[in-house]
Order: sequence, then structure tokens, then C-alpha cells
Amino acid sequence: MNKSFHIKTYGCQMNFYDSTRIAELLKPMGYYESNLPESCDLIILNTCHIREKASEKMYSDIGRLSIMKQNRKKYGNDLKIVIAGCVAQAEGKEILSRNRDVDIVVGPQTYHKLPELLKRNEKLVLNDFPNESKFDFLPLINKTQSSAFVTIQEGCDKFCSFCVVPYTRGAEFSRSVNEITFEIEHLILNGVKEVTLLGQNVSSYHGMYRSKENKSKYSLTDLIQHISKIEGLQRIRYLTSHPSDIKEDLIKEHGNNPKLMPYLHLPIQSGSNKILKKMNRKHTKESYIELIKKVRIARSDLAISSDFIVGFPGETNKDFEETLEVVKEINFASSYSFKYSPRPGTPASLMKDHVEEETKTNRLQILQKELNNQQEIFNNSFLGQKLSVLFEKKGKKTNQFVGKSQYLQPVHVISKQSIIGEIHDVGIYNKTSHSLHGNLKI
Ligand code: SAH
Ligand code: SF4
Ligand code: F3S
Repeated sequence: MNKSFHIKTYGCQMNFYDSTRIAELLKPMGYYESNLPESCDLIILNTCHIREKASEKMYSDIGRLSIMKQNRKKYGNDLKIVIAGCVAQAEGKEILSRNRDVDIVVGPQTYHKLPELLKRNEKLVLNDFPNESKFDFLPLINKTQSSAFVTIQEGCDKFCSFCVVPYTRGAEFSRSVNEITFEIEHLILNGVKEVTLLGQNVSSYHGMYRSKENKSKYSLTDLIQHISKIEGLQRIRYLTSHPSDIKEDLIKEHGNNPKLMPYLHLPIQSGSNKILKKMNRKHTKESYIELIKKVRIARSDLAISSDFIVGFPGETNKDFEETLEVVKEINFASSYSFKYSPRPGTPASLMKDHVEEETKTNRLQILQKELNNQQEIFNNSFLGQKLSVLFEKKGKKTNQFVGKSQYLQPVHVISKQSIIGEIHDVGIYNKTSHSLHGNLKI
């Protein structure tokens, strides 16, 4: 009999990518994916450890699943609960001891073992960093979509003092160019038009390329140039980069490669050099501003987005003012900002001068007001203009379709025929809080 599964994904795009791969692993076992967790045989929580709230959310979700499981048991049925992702990596056995209804705990580098673990029918934790690469054991993704993620690199060696990623995802590792190319070619056969190359530090990608004659190391720029030759691949993006790894070749590529979309997510975290040093970020306010100037010279319409942390230990009003000044100088197209959250095991969590919660809340409000304002100005600048949009799905209204512009803005249009998977020029005539509305006939 066929069994159903449901995956709930928290956190970053890499986790979302892992979830699609977990789904492909389960299908040959007779499982089908369902959007109704209430009636599923297997529920997987693919968790995130980046901030305290993310982990707390997982425990409250486990609590709910536990009640579901107990209720089913009364009628002789079961529910298997699997905890995957970064909390699984960080907390391992502790998850099982906190809730006995959890069946399996697997980390981000061991989830390829899930079919084997599920067959064993016992409580298991598998969260080591194995020598083998999970990618060698994962079936290809067969989902039809217009835009897809492809993880090209795992882990991080940067050790920013606030961040858990080097501990939850392990050391930096680049997949080979051949493996990535094969995966993208397969996605293209399934109708994909755009890929986003993923990694916690894609800009430090250094994967092997093996040709018949020899093998060599490829940088992110080399990889982008290589996959640009794939017929049918129309758009390329990459996420996330570190400001100290972006070199001249990648900047030039933004100016020269029409398939490389004019959008760059480049987390700055803070505008104060004192705080950046304490964060172990390896870049300064000045080097960041200089870098943005250079990429904007190479590609004048480049949309810049960023991540910010407010209330890092020792952040004074003056430090925060410096962040605001940098924001005003750069003009971001979109941004993500967070209150600093101390994470167990990170150097910053042991620093002394923690900032009051109320101050963090106030600073976040002020920063977000400015960032939202900039996003609004950016989006307004397209009213009456033309954008190139890749359509991905149906909208909520009749005959409505939603896609993403080259600058990653959601764009809605009305069309009688399906335009999913197609790229069209759209004339923008209206704007709602986070999306643009346009006409196909311009
Ligand atoms: N690799 C990326 C992003 C990593 S995590 C980078 O180099 O920036 C995504 C974002 O979460 C980070 O950019 C940071 O802004 C935020 N973040 C990470 N750890 C955090 C913490 N302890 N508290 C609050 N925000 C955090
Ligand atoms: Fe975390 Fe820093 Fe690595 Fe980004 S670069 S994943 S913030 S340690
Ligand atoms: Fe979260 Fe792990 Fe991604 S901690 S942000 S899911 S790498």
C-alpha cells in the first residue's frame, strides 16, 4: 500500500533544496508527497538553527505532532516523525530525549541514509559528518518547475562569531562542475529555465572540472561561464556571497554575461567597523562600499540586497547610526534584518556586553523602516517601465500568473493562456505592498 509523507521546511534556500531531494529519496520507497499533514504516514521537519526562535518553533511543532501520533495510536495507526536539518545536527540525541515520539534524527549531510533508517523501524540518530558525499547517493530531482535551486557548495569556513552554520553544515565543500552541470541539464529537461546556485559562501566556490584530457579547479565565475553554455538555461543566479570573496572576474561577469541576472545578495551585517571586527566578518564598511561601487560600474542596474544584524554584543547607538549611514549611502533593493540571537557554542554568545532586548527591538524597527522605504523607492521606479519576467505559477485570481523579474520582484499579470515557464516583457502599471502588477501586451 502506498504511504504518504509531508515535509515542513524552515530556514534558508539550502534547506528547501534538501527537502526536494529528500522527497525524491522517498518516492522509490512507495511514498507519495501530500500537503495534508493530518493524514500523512510520515512527517519530516527540516529544521533551522540560525536563531533561537527557529529552534523553538521546531520544538512546538514536535509537541503538536506528538499529540497527533498519540491520537492515532489509540486507533492502531502510526505516524513516523523525522527531524532533519540544522537543529538535528546541533542537538542530535537531545531531540529524542526531549520528545520520545520522534523516530529518526538526521543531519544535513546524512539524510541520504533516510530510506535505510526508515526500514530499520527503530529510534535512530545519524548526524555525523561522513566521508562520503550525500550527492553521490541522491536520485535526481524530477519536479517540473520554471526556477530551481542547485546546491553547489556546502558548509562554511568563515566562522563569523555569531553564526552556527560552520557547526551545523560542517566544513566548506564544493561539488564538482561535472556533477552540477549534469544536475542542471536534467532540470532543463524537466522544464527549468532558471537556476539559483546555492551555498553559504558561493563566492568561494572551487570545484573540480574533469574533461577527457585533464582536470582543473573552477571558480564561481568559471562555473557560471561553463553552465551558461547549456542550451535552454536562460537565467542564472547565485546565493549567498561573502563580501571578502568577490573578485574582479565575478564583477566583470556581471557586466558581460546576459544570462547572469542583475541581482546580488551581499550580506553586510553591520556598518560599524568595530562591530564587523567583533563579528569576524573580514570586511570593513569601506571595503563593502567600494565593492558595491565596482559592481555597479560593471552593471549599472544591479539590484543589491543584504542581511543585517542589530544589537550584536557591544553595539552602541553610534555603531547603529553608522549602519544607518551605510544603508542610506547604498540604497538596497531588498533586505533581511534580524535582532542578534546568541547561539550556543558560538564565540559571540560568550561576549559580555549584550544589548538589551528593548534596544534591539527599537533599532530593528528603525532599520527596517529605512530598508522598506528603499525597497518601495526601488519598486516604484518601475511603474510605467518594462520588466522581463519568468512566470512560475498561477496566481490567486482567475487567469492570473505570477513570475519573477530579473531583479527578483514578484510580478502579477492576467493571461487567458498559461504562460508558466515562459519569459515575457511586462509593462508595469501598479504596485501592491510586495509585488508589481503589469500587462503582457506592451
Ligand atoms: N552565509 C551568509 C548567510 C548566513 S545565515 C552570510 O555570509 O552572510 C543568514 C543570515 O542570518 C545572516 O546573514 C545573518 O544576517 C543572520 N544570522 C546569522 N546568525 C545570526 C544570529 N546569531 N542572530 C541573528 N541573525 C543571525
Ligand atoms: Fe555564517 Fe559567516 Fe559562514 Fe555566512 S559566512 S554562513 S554568516 S559563518
Ligand atoms: Fe538555518 Fe541551517 Fe540554513 S541553520 S539558515 S537551515 S544552513
